[in-house]
Amino acid sequence: MSKAVWKGGTLMAPVPVMLATCGTVERPNAITVGWTGIVNSDPPMAYLSVRKSRYSHGLIVENGLFALNLTTERLAKATDYCGVRSGRDGDKLAACGLTVSKGKLGCPILDQSPLSLECRVTQRMELGSHDLFLGVIEAVHVEEALIDEGGRLQLERAGLIAYSHGQYMTLGRTLGGFGFSVRKKPERRQQGQKKPGRRAAQSAGKPASAAPRGSGPRPHGGKGFGGKSPSGKRGR
Ligand SMILES: Cc1cc2nc3c(=O)[nH]c(=O)nc-3n(C[C@H](O)[C@H](O)[C@H](O)COP(=O)(O)O)c2cc1C
Repeated sequence: MSKAVWKGGTLMAPVPVMLATCGTVERPNAITVGWTGIVNSDPPMAYLSVRKSRYSHGLIVENGLFALNLTTERLAKATDYCGVRSGRDGDKLAACGLTVSKGKLGCPILDQSPLSLECRVTQRMELGSHDLFLGVIEAVHVEEALIDEGGRLQLERAGLIAYSHGQYMTLGRTLGGFGFSVRKKPERRQQGQKKPGRRAAQSAGKPASAAPRGSGPRPHGGKGFGGKSPSGKRGR
């Protein structure tokens, strides 16, 4: 692959586009952020990078709290609006028909977001153009309708979006689950060979319905970097 070399820049894509809420429940604000993410599992920690000139910057410094609210197709227009208008000039949430509720720490949590990470700021790093706020995630607010009877979060039903090279995008088709590259494939049957019946399977020491190892759904949809990898080793 032949590549052109450009000077250093911020061309990373896709990025998770979040509506970060801050301020108080009485006077909340929302700022759209693309420079945000998870940085630690234990304790669970997240960050967001905010320019000093943003109205939200002062609110986060003042209250020491922020919430990262995942955005969806339904929230796409509001996500863009909160990224091009300032809370200094009016109530953006009201303008978008959005509402908030008081979180565990008192941070405003976006009612219309399927999942919100409520964070307490532990560190502010001045990087240059932006200040990076690092926070401990002290509560996760989840839309109850996305939790199935077994307690599993079905986030794939939320209609999440991402931001890539200036465009808001829906998430495409699934290519594989966490660890699919190393998971054992089900044994291939020879041509003409029948599926083993209940008796044959039992005599081989397995229940007839036994699925090949690792082929079933992972509890809670897989834990990503925080849980155990398919090899049994701890993730990053
Ligand atoms: C897709 C998108 C991503 C953005 N990401 C960031 C970001 O990571 N940090 C930041 O300071 N501003 C970011 N902005 C710009 C702010 O959201 C924007 O300046 C907003 O009006 C600030 O609101 P406020 O003054 O109410 O805080 C982004 C805007 C958009 C549209």
